[in-house]
Amino acid sequence: MIYFDHNATTPIHPKVLEAMLPFLGAFYGNPSSLYRHGRLVRSAIDTARNQVATLAGAHPTQVIFTSGGTEANNLALMSAPPLAKLAISAIEHPSISEPTFHLQQTGHDLTLIEVDPNGLITQEAVDRVILKKPDFVSIMLANNETGVIQDVARYAGQFAAIGALVHTDAVQALGKIPVNFEQLGVQMMSLSSHKIYGPKGCGALVFAKGTPIKPMLLGGGQEQGLRAGTENVAAIAGFGKAAELAQTELVFYNAHLLALRNALETHLSAIPGLTLFAHHSQRLPNTVQFGIEGIDGEMLLMKLDQKGIAVSSGSACASGGGIPSPVLLAMGVEASLAKSAIRISLGCSNTEAEILEFIAVLKNLVNPA
Ligand SMILES: Cc1ncc(COP(=O)(O)O)c(C=O)c1O
Repeated sequence: MIYFDHNATTPIHPKVLEAMLPFLGAFYGNPSSLYRHGRLVRSAIDTARNQVATLAGAHPTQVIFTSGGTEANNLALMSAPPLAKLAISAIEHPSISEPTFHLQQTGHDLTLIEVDPNGLITQEAVDRVILKKPDFVSIMLANNETGVIQDVARYAGQFAAIGALVHTDAVQALGKIPVNFEQLGVQMMSLSSHKIYGPKGCGALVFAKGTPIKPMLLGGGQEQGLRAGTENVAAIAGFGKAAELAQTELVFYNAHLLALRNALETHLSAIPGLTLFAHHSQRLPNTVQFGIEGIDGEMLLMKLDQKGIAVSSGSACASGGGIPSPVLLAMGVEASLAKSAIRISLGCSNTEAEILEFIAVLKNLVNPA
């Protein structure tokens, strides 16, 4: 199989699996237990917290482990004050947009921060939203579909100046570009393990001291009382190891991914009727999204699958719905072209030979000889 869907999930790195296995076997103690068997397991969580904090440019005490990016996003959003005015970008992942729409139905005011045709939030859009004086703002660092990177640091400062709590979803950015919580100047930031060669079902919310986090789960006081429940120790140890590997290998992999993506885009551009989305924006080095007029993206995905090539027709969570990508619609892409969207997200083990094979198969499918 040629796997081109690393923004959906990544395989577990062998060294990550190695780091996890002891906690699925001999080291089964409860990290809250006071005897040695428990303390040993606690120290594995402490190590992982250090590793994740280092990759994210935060202090270990600012990291709360969660069940993934979705929980971290929901936890951040629940910290908005009662009946707060909310503002989120028009291109957020459903794990931000869905709970926000739910809050809107329960009486919260909501403003969407628009993006331009390049998928970028503009200063003008932010100025318009600032006039509405939001209490809580969420702007994703990198988009899961287009890969477009937002200038979160710039806008976080402006929203913080009017007293808003600012959150960023850095799930797709982590491990692909440098992410530094302190420099971003946000109060909360969501991360996920399975996008960086770690296990699924594990993530983190990074928070600035003094942020009024409201726990969603109450219980035994784990994670500073902000996320109760016995910790998923093996997954947390795996997330930590994945973060450590991302830290040491980021530069090398980015160069590899960028070279592959450039080759891919050169070949794609030569296909008649093909549009590369957000092509001129600063994007994650591994992500390409394109559409071909007159082609159904999901049908094309299925045909590629039959040829052993795994891609996405947009956000993994939205695929199967047959509706055009809200991200592309927000960028002003015509619904018919948006419905043809295919996302390629490359990973460390992809090769140039795979790119060439994909291009040959794609050309044949969209324009059979
Ligand atoms: C931008 C973004 N945020 C949040 C999530 C959710 O993360 P998780 O799968 O860990 O719940 C994803 C997953 O695709 C994502 O791409």
